[in-house]
Amino acid sequence: ADLPELPPCNFKPDEYKGMSKGQMMEIRRQNCNPVTMKITYYKKPMFIHQGHMQWLWDVDGRRYLDLFAGVATVSLGHCHPKVTAAAQKQLKTLWHTTNIYVHPTLHEYCEKLASYLPDPLKVIYLTNSGSEANDLAMLMARLHTGNFDIITFRGSYHGGTQQTMGLTSNMPYKYPIATSSGCTHTMCPDVFRGPWGGSHCRDSPVQTIRDCSCAQGCCKAINIAFIHTNLCIITVTKIIFFDPTGHCMASEQYIGQLKETFATSVPSRIAGFFAEPIQGMGGAVQYPKNYLKEAYKLVRERGGICIADEVQTGFGRTGSHFWGFQGHEVIPDMVTMAKGIGNGFPIGAVVTTPEIAASFGKAYHFNTFGGSPIACAVASSVLDTIKEDGIQQNSHNVGTYLLTELAKLRDQHEIIGDVRGKGLQIGVEMVTDKVSRSPLSPEAMSEIFEDIKDMGVLIGKGGVYGQTFRIQPPMCITKEDVDFFLAVFNKAINNYVDRK
Ligand SMILES: Cc1ncc(COP(=O)(O)O)c(C=O)c1O
Repeated sequence: ADLPELPPCNFKPDEYKGMSKGQMMEIRRQNCNPVTMKITYYKKPMFIHQGHMQWLWDVDGRRYLDLFAGVATVSLGHCHPKVTAAAQKQLKTLWHTTNIYVHPTLHEYCEKLASYLPDPLKVIYLTNSGSEANDLAMLMARLHTGNFDIITFRGSYHGGTQQTMGLTSNMPYKYPIATSSGCTHTMCPDVFRGPWGGSHCRDSPVQTIRDCSCAQGCCKAINIAFIHTNLCIITVTKIIFFDPTGHCMASEQYIGQLKETFATSVPSRIAGFFAEPIQGMGGAVQYPKNYLKEAYKLVRERGGICIADEVQTGFGRTGSHFWGFQGHEVIPDMVTMAKGIGNGFPIGAVVTTPEIAASFGKAYHFNTFGGSPIACAVASSVLDTIKEDGIQQNSHNVGTYLLTELAKLRDQHEIIGDVRGKGLQIGVEMVTDKVSRSPLSPEAMSEIFEDIKDMGVLIGKGGVYGQTFRIQPPMCITKEDVDFFLAVFNKAINNYVDRK
C-alpha cells in the first residue's frame, strides 16, 4: 500500500502478442551468446516489449521508468517522435550505398557534427559502435605518432574488441589473450575511493564526504550566476567554479602517479592517452579539477596524442557542456563517440584534426556501414532535437536536482558512500559503512537493485567491484520522475536495512 506511485503517462503501448517468456529464455539458452544468460541483469529477467520516451513496458504491459537508457544510449527518449520520423523518411528514400558514392545525408551530418566541435577537430570518421571508434583511434594515434604505447585509467571501459580490450581495465571484460600489448593502465584519480581526495575536488554539485587535505583557502570557490535563455524561458543557474590558481593536492598526487607510470611502464615516447571525461562503466568516477589539463600536457610532452572517449558523456549528458572534455577545459586531439549519438541507432564516430587524419591516408580505410544514410539521418535528427527540445539544459536542471536530493539520502543512510556526477551522468557508490568505504557486497547490491526494479525503476550497475549504481537516463526525464525514483530508492535501502 505504501509503494511509491509511478508518475502518469498518456502513451498507450500496443498489446504484446509475441512469443512467451519461457520460449525466449529457451532460445537465449540454446541459440544466443551464452554470456547473455549471465547478464540477464536481474534474478527475474526483464522482458521488454515497447518504449516511449523515458518509459518501457514489459510483455505483461507493466510500465517502468527507464533511468539507464539501454546503457546510457537512448539519449533523447525511446522512439522519440522526431527521430523516428527522420528515420522513417530516410527508410523510404535510401538505405545504403557505402561512402564510395556521394550521398547528401553523410555530408549534411558531418558538417553539422563538426560545427559542435572546437577547432581543429573537424575531420570525421563514421563507424558503427564505440569499440570500433576506439579501435580506429588507437590505430590512428599509433600511425600519427610513430609510437606504440597507450595509457588509460584503471577501472576504465573502452570496448570489447581484441584491441580495445587492451585499453579496458576492468577484470570481467578481460580475456586471457594478448590484448594488452602496448596498453598500460595508470591509477584512476578517483577522489572517493582512491588514496587522495577531499571535499572540493570535483566539478559536481555534490562533493565527497572526505575532508580536504589542501591548505586553507587553496580550493577557493567562486560563485557565478549564469543566465540561460532557451526558447524564451530564462533560467538562472548558480555554478560554483574553483579558483584556477588553487592547487588541488589530490590532483597533484594523482599526477604524481601518472609520472610514475611514465617513469616505469612505458618508453620515453608514447602514442596516446585515452580518458573518459567522467567514467561510465567505472561508476561515474570524476577526477579532481585540473587533473586532465596537466595529464594532457605531460602526454603531449612525450609525443602522445590525447583522446577523449565521449561515448557516454557526449551530446549534452553532463549538462553544463555539450562535450564532457569542455568541463575539464581541455581540447583533445581526438574524440570518440557512440551510444547517445544515435539515440539507440548503431553509429559511432572518431573526430580528429586534419593533421592527424593526413597521417592515416597511406592505405585505404573502408567501412561498409559506417556513415550509412539511415544512421546519418538519425544522428542528424538527434543533434537537431537536442537543440529544439532543450535537452542539454534539462540534463543540467534535472540532473542537478537529482544529485542534490541523492546527497540528502547519502547523509541519511550509512550504506550510501558517495553521490557524484554532472547532469545526467550520475553514480551512487554503495559501501558497508562510511568509515571503511568498503564496497557493498554484490549480493547486497543485487537485492537492492532487484527491489528497485520491482518497484518500477530500471537503473544500472558499475564500478570495479560492481558497487556503484549508475543513473544515465534518457535526458527527457522530469523532476516528477526524479521524485518517484528518490522515493523508490529510499524505500529499497530501508527494505534492505530492515531485512538485515
Ligand atoms: C566509454 C565507452 N567507450 C566505448 C564503449 C564501447 O562501445 P560499444 O559497446 O558501442 O562498442 C563503451 C561501451 O559501453 C563505453 O562505455
